[in-house]
Amino acid sequence: MSSKVNLYRDYINEYLNLYFKDKGSYNKIIYDSASYSLLIGGKRVRPLLFLLTSELYNKNYKDVIEMAAAIEMIHTYSLIHDDLPCMDDDDLRRGMPTNHKKFGENIAVLSGDTLLNEAMSLLMKFSLDNGGNALLASREIAEAAGPEGMIGGQIVDILNEDKAISKEELLYMHNKKTGELIRVSVVAAAIFANASKEDIEILNNFGLKLGLAFQIKDDILDIVGDVEKLGKNINCDENKNKSNFITLFGLEYCERECINLTNECIKLLDSLSVEASELKELTIDLLNREF
Ligand code: IPE
Ligand code: IPE
Ligand code: MG
Ligand code: MG
Ligand code: MG
Repeated sequence: MSSKVNLYRDYINEYLNLYFKDKGSYNKIIYDSASYSLLIGGKRVRPLLFLLTSELYNKNYKDVIEMAAAIEMIHTYSLIHDDLPCMDDDDLRRGMPTNHKKFGENIAVLSGDTLLNEAMSLLMKFSLDNGGNALLASREIAEAAGPEGMIGGQIVDILNEDKAISKEELLYMHNKKTGELIRVSVVAAAIFANASKEDIEILNNFGLKLGLAFQIKDDILDIVGDVEKLGKNINCDENKNKSNFITLFGLEYCERECINLTNECIKLLDSLSVEASELKELTIDLLNREF
């Protein structure tokens, strides 16, 4: 892990730590609950991708932290809702009891809603302060999280429990439920930083491939991972009869596919107009991750 990544991760955590601090009155529990899930851990992959891409086009991480933090809030909301009994029904997340286990289902639903609303509010504030490109990037983020993006993938995930899924629908599911937020983390950064159309297109393809590799790896870790390291339970997909890459293609194919996608990602980064060594390093770290 590069020192830049550690610096950025610390800054993301510092920003998020302060975000809900000392807020609330009669409603205080909502801040406790939202902070609980936001602050108990997480790799911060999406805001890191955002900050590393911003840096390629000369944006300082401190000047774009709001947008990076908003993406992490949306991601954390998606995890809180993903774990609910009506969704994946999981009780361990980021090494701790899931939000609904700790605060109850009603508060957990509202915490997810809170994080999504705060993210949108943060993006609007950032756009008011920074003008047109920030607004364009914010719209991309909102779309990527919506029914044609992350939510669309979650829908297909739920509809295909206990069913054989086609390869096309499986690709849709992974590209949307996980790929879109990862893709938009690099694309929104490039849009805001006024990168060339060619570079934005390359980063778009990079983000899609990285997102797909990331979810296939998540499916692999659900089988071969270590609960302690992972911070979530394993065999959840099998226990819920989920369709995923492993059920359709088997473990070996998935491991090869992750390597192939990572190689394609590196090639894409090599074709950018700027040198992206930190992004390359992160891409390889994600392939080899154990959690
Ligand atoms: C988990 O995401 C859910 C998926 C989209 C695969 P991460 O693996 O990024 O989870 P955290 O943020 O590190 O907890
Ligand atoms: C999660 O996919 C995707 C989103 C949260 C949008 P999973 O259901 O596989 O994620 P984990 O394994 O619970 O982290
Ligand atoms: Mg799920
Ligand atoms: Mg899940
Ligand atoms: Mg999973």
